[in-house]
Amino acid sequence: MTLRLPPVCKNFPVLLHGGDYNPDQWLGTPDILKEDLRLMKLSHTNTLSLGIFAWASLEPEEGRFEFGWLDKVIDDLYRNGQRVILATPSGAKPNWMAAKYPEIRRVKANGERELQLGRHNHCFSSPVYRDKVMIMNTKLAERYGKHPALIMWHISNEYNGECHCNYCLAAFREFLKNKYKTLEALNKSWWAHFWSHTFTDWNQIEAIDTTVHGLAIDWMRFVTHQTTDFMKHEAVALRKLTPHIPITINMMGTFPGLNYPAMAPHVDVISWDSYPGWGDHEDEVESAVNTAFVHDLNRSMKDKPFILMESTPSVTNWHPVSRLKQPNMHRTASLQAVAHGADSVLYFQWRKSRGSSEKFHGAVVDHAGHEHTRVFKDVSTLGADLEKLSDKIPGTITPAEVGIIYDWENRWAIESSYGPRNRDKNYQETVTQHYEAFWHRNIPCDVFDSTHDFSKYKMIVAPMLYMLRPGVAERLKDFVQRGGTLISTYLTGTADSTDLVYLGGLPGGGLMDVFGVWAEEVDPLSDKTGQHIIIGSGNDMGLSGTYNCRHYAEVVHLKGALPLAKFGSDFYAGSPALTVNQYGKGKAYYIASRNEQAFTQAFIDALIKQHNLRPAIKATLPKGVSAAYRTDGVQDIVFVMNFMPVEQSFSLDSEQYTDALTGKSVAGALTVPSRGTVVLLRPHQ
Ligand code: GLA
Ligand code: ZN
Repeated sequence: MTLRLPPVCKNFPVLLHGGDYNPDQWLGTPDILKEDLRLMKLSHTNTLSLGIFAWASLEPEEGRFEFGWLDKVIDDLYRNGQRVILATPSGAKPNWMAAKYPEIRRVKANGERELQLGRHNHCFSSPVYRDKVMIMNTKLAERYGKHPALIMWHISNEYNGECHCNYCLAAFREFLKNKYKTLEALNKSWWAHFWSHTFTDWNQIEAIDTTVHGLAIDWMRFVTHQTTDFMKHEAVALRKLTPHIPITINMMGTFPGLNYPAMAPHVDVISWDSYPGWGDHEDEVESAVNTAFVHDLNRSMKDKPFILMESTPSVTNWHPVSRLKQPNMHRTASLQAVAHGADSVLYFQWRKSRGSSEKFHGAVVDHAGHEHTRVFKDVSTLGADLEKLSDKIPGTITPAEVGIIYDWENRWAIESSYGPRNRDKNYQETVTQHYEAFWHRNIPCDVFDSTHDFSKYKMIVAPMLYMLRPGVAERLKDFVQRGGTLISTYLTGTADSTDLVYLGGLPGGGLMDVFGVWAEEVDPLSDKTGQHIIIGSGNDMGLSGTYNCRHYAEVVHLKGALPLAKFGSDFYAGSPALTVNQYGKGKAYYIASRNEQAFTQAFIDALIKQHNLRPAIKATLPKGVSAAYRTDGVQDIVFVMNFMPVEQSFSLDSEQYTDALTGKSVAGALTVPSRGTVVLLRPHQ
């Protein structure tokens, strides 16, 4: 059975290699633009993202449009074998527009209007800006929609931020009216009688009061809603005039300000910009885990390959310190994205700009201007390899048996809440901590928010699922009842979707039955008062020993669950710290404390064994070597990545591997260079 999905760009079904190209900064030096074409060929570049910040060059004054330069750039690129991802330029508004129409500039929460500075700072509601964007996008679609170079639309750039102008406030009130219908319902949902915050007129909803948590979370939801509305507005002309060209927006990983899974249904392709701190540590494991997590999150948003839209070919200019990439690291960082589902390796930026704030940001072409640089060589070597993999990878999928929940609205709720502890809440770290345990065993995981379908997974891991969004408790119940295994922790099931705490005991929403426990109190451990858990002897998971915990420990009572571990000290010594409950055909585990990673690894190891979860490769890999795989249902492509600063070897588990780049068969011991990657093929397992 073929499991291959249609390629991201139907009119260009290869691995995309290239990135952000800003010819508008170099129009005065045509020789440089000509040289770019030669260098693109040399570096095995095939795709350039154009026009992202080009509004001032495309419309230098109101109503005067200059497309001639862009016509020439696109024609030249196409004649030289390149394809184009064309951006709408709304990410940076031109000075003339900001001066003539102040309303397009954002208003801060204190009511003050921003000056025209930087970028990514236009109002999402301003009718003038929306009109301007409509005119511009229509012209772009009319002019380039049929150009054979065009493979994708890149709408705006890294949407982010919020505006508190009167248009935005009016839109917020409309959003709330649609949601709650009456002020009575709104007051009830927000618990607004507290501190006399009862709203008696919609127009009283002004300041985003962070003490009214329901309001604060709804504001965050509104920001996503309004940004999405703006994005849909941007897409109108593109959808109408170029229905055959897919649309994407470049997301920013786990950027807190936008609920990306809520935006995902409105784009055709998921893209993201990845800038890990490679080189921040002795080895690259921590960065590798965090980055793999976000790649998986992006793949899972649409359950299909995504686009790595930006990454740096060398350094960033905005990390506090950005070290040079060590030898091999560029290749491994890039192939890691592909291993986890990217059908591209794209960079910011093709050529280093000469002035302004990004002149020291890494680029394929440095200020030296030629190909004899270390970075250019790394990029070209990788480009040649990607070309060799191009017929095998686009559209292949990653089969995962484990789903890990990372939920933006839950994050907002945990972060905005006062208590049960205010430091080290660490929601994302805790989810990643669980992900990491699977990563070390090469078990593919999907990562998604709580609205995703759970039914196809053997296991759902939902750490700190404090807020239960509508229907989530019911779907988790159903999942376990039908035979799934659910793993969750302290804080789960505390509040509903407007952050009202469940009455009648936690976990709420019906999850008390599923876990078979009642969590009575939370003890937010201080740094000086430790706690530990003791695993009970004779459990059927083969766990043993004692483990330290930090930050959270809950006093839990059994309501049908079996205890697997108990707390070791304090007045609740002996009370359950880890439980399992049979519910329907499945099981639900409740971890009552934040435990050291050694516990999480041992616990997940036991579950992997019990559930016979399929790793990407059966061989036992050395520490810091990670494998991920993709398949078309006939052939598996296995990426073996060494994130350690030393060469490492291991024995392959079968004779059936070939090297995907040389075509030679590989058996016995496999050596992976320091920070290097080997790509293998094998018949689908
Ligand atoms: C972001 C932006 C790019 C560029 C890079 C630099 O991802 O989208 O325009 O500024 O950062 O890392
Ligand atoms: Zn506004």
